Amino acid sequence: SSHQTWGGRFAEGPDARVAAFTESISFETRLAPYDIRGSIAHARMLSTIGVLSADEFGEIEAGLKAIEARIAAGDFPWDAALEDVHMNIEARLTDDIGALGKKLHTARSRNDQVATDVRLWLRDTLDALIDEVKRLRAGLIELAEREADTIMPGFTHMQVAQPVTFGHHMLAWQAMLARDSERLAQIRARANVLPLGAAALAGTTFAIDREMVAQELGFDGVIDNSLDAVSDRDFAIEFVSAAATIMMHLSRFSEELILWMSPAFDFVELPDRYCTGSSIMPQKKNPDVAELTRGKTARVQGHLTALLTLMKGQPLAYNRDNQEDKVPMFDTADTVGACVALFADMAPHIMVKREQCREAARRGFATATDLADYLVRAGVAFRDAHEIVGNCVSRAIREGCDLAELELTTLREYSDAIGEDVYEVLTLEGSVAARNHIGGTAPDQVRAAAARARHALES
Ligand code: ARG
Repeated sequence: SSHQTWGGRFAEGPDARVAAFTESISFETRLAPYDIRGSIAHARMLSTIGVLSADEFGEIEAGLKAIEARIAAGDFPWDAALEDVHMNIEARLTDDIGALGKKLHTARSRNDQVATDVRLWLRDTLDALIDEVKRLRAGLIELAEREADTIMPGFTHMQVAQPVTFGHHMLAWQAMLARDSERLAQIRARANVLPLGAAALAGTTFAIDREMVAQELGFDGVIDNSLDAVSDRDFAIEFVSAAATIMMHLSRFSEELILWMSPAFDFVELPDRYCTGSSIMPQKKNPDVAELTRGKTARVQGHLTALLTLMKGQPLAYNRDNQEDKVPMFDTADTVGACVALFADMAPHIMVKREQCREAARRGFATATDLADYLVRAGVAFRDAHEIVGNCVSRAIREGCDLAELELTTLREYSDAIGEDVYEVLTLEGSVAARNHIGGTAPDQVRAAAARARHALES
């Protein structure tokens, strides 16, 4: 017949342009090891229900393992004329072991087969990503502990707001990633169910044992409805959505690193090995990893939109549209994997310029709120205190100095509630140390929060 696996009802083979248009082998060979594992589990089950003999199963298993070894060795001739990874492997098996290979596809369709392959691949991908996100979190916790006492300006509206500790800032990044870890684990649990047995869409007339296949492949259960099993791609959307969220987080870190490495801020430096130079300006040391991460975030967001749009118009059950899920999913995995790994490498090596950070906080009247709180403790209503401190800041701006540099007599022009002890609250160290409660920026709280984060990471 004109096509090895479905040509029976066709009078001619596909047009060359159609073949090139419909093939998926050029972008899905990473599914091959999962396809083989799924096929072995399926064949073993067929032998336990008597559809294959024990000898037949043995031959099929040996044949598939030989193919797996060839693929792993990079010695497998993928053929686009055979469309996809499933048919390439099945055709090779039949060439290798003879007509018996044609029995493998009993009680199965490529529709439940591909859904199984992709879920198996995703499970491994999620496990690797979960580990890398943890490694990045560990690096941030380490950095937070090292910089628990380092003072920097905290910002709102990109204007200096109040002093914070650098460690506190790092633990905010860590907190975002802790949620990402949780999301990835939840997605893994939901995705880890077996589609195989749904066959094309309605199930099969053979007395299959789906639980057995699920168990062999490490799935937590079987997908209950056959139509849903072959057509659901929620797991892909959830994965890409979680990945897009991770990328959004990394993109925000990137934005901060880029600003902080600019000479205008000069808060941090990265080792040379994580930076690149300019071909014209000899002095440049550019944060290209951070910039590319910010840029690649756009790709992953695009993939999420692509998958949602891919699914929105599909009636039940399987449609060939679903083949378009692979490039977005695979590119998402590669992109988020590379970015998280690089950030995990870099995080512990972020070199903090403590003096510059402190100086930036000092310049920005970052302790103005502390002065207002001081007045409140002396009996002034907060709104009045706000006004008084605003006047003091305005005076300091006119005199070109910091709040702590104003004479006591000058400060007392604005409120006689101000006493000599005011200078204790106007210092940066006093300001951060005073925010000494769970979630606050005080160095002691940062150390305690880092310990809790480390504990959560290890449990
Ligand atoms: N390459 C296909 C995909 O990715 C495999 C399933 C093909 N099924 C079919 N009925 N043509 O979805």
